[in-house]
Amino acid sequence: MEQLLELRYDVFCREQGVPEHEEADGRDHDAVHLVAVIGGDVIATCRVLLVGPTAQLSRLAVAAGERRRGIATALLEAAEAEARAGGARRLVLHAQTYARELYDRAGYRTRGRAFMEAGIEHIAMEKTLG
Ligand SMILES: CC(C)(COP(=O)(O)OP(=O)(O)OC[C@H]1O[C@@H](n2cnc3c(N)ncnc32)[C@H](O)[C@@H]1OP(=O)(O)O)[C@@H](O)C(=O)NCCC(=O)NCCS
Repeated sequence: MEQLLELRYDVFCREQGVPEHEEADGRDHDAVHLVAVIGGDVIATCRVLLVGPTAQLSRLAVAAGERRRGIATALLEAAEAEARAGGARRLVLHAQTYARELYDRAGYRTRGRAFMEAGIEHIAMEKTLG
């Protein structure tokens, strides 16, 4: 947990300027946390919160030096498997619009219009599990 929280702080707060109190939203205790590890170091993470039949994905972050190697795509697959195992029928997330293609390719569809969250443009996306 310590390592993945450090990574989230580096990526969201330091790199993207998200205020620390918005990054730490108090929901970590209720979530399943997925990580990618290389040589003992956490280099990517993603959080899955199960709310009835809906799995909320958030805090997807890959260390700056490890991007564009398919790690986020692999974490999305792992998150989907976790959601299915927990009985979810639907995945939802708020995508940063610049990264929308990542989710498009993983089978997510947009819902509604773009909006601002933590000072960053987002769009709601969802995927129904068959
Ligand atoms: C967004 C992020 C999680 C992507 O991680 P990644 O491991 O590099 O993603 P992948 O390698 O699985 O990318 C798969 C596809 O998603 C799209 N994609 C990924 N990063 C992108 C970017 N910066 N801009 C546009 N499209 C992007 C591309 O289509 C990419 O395929 P390609 O590399 O063949 O072009 C990573 O850049 C990150 O941690 N960014 C900072 C935090 C953040 O924005 N989190 C997402 C919140 S929604």
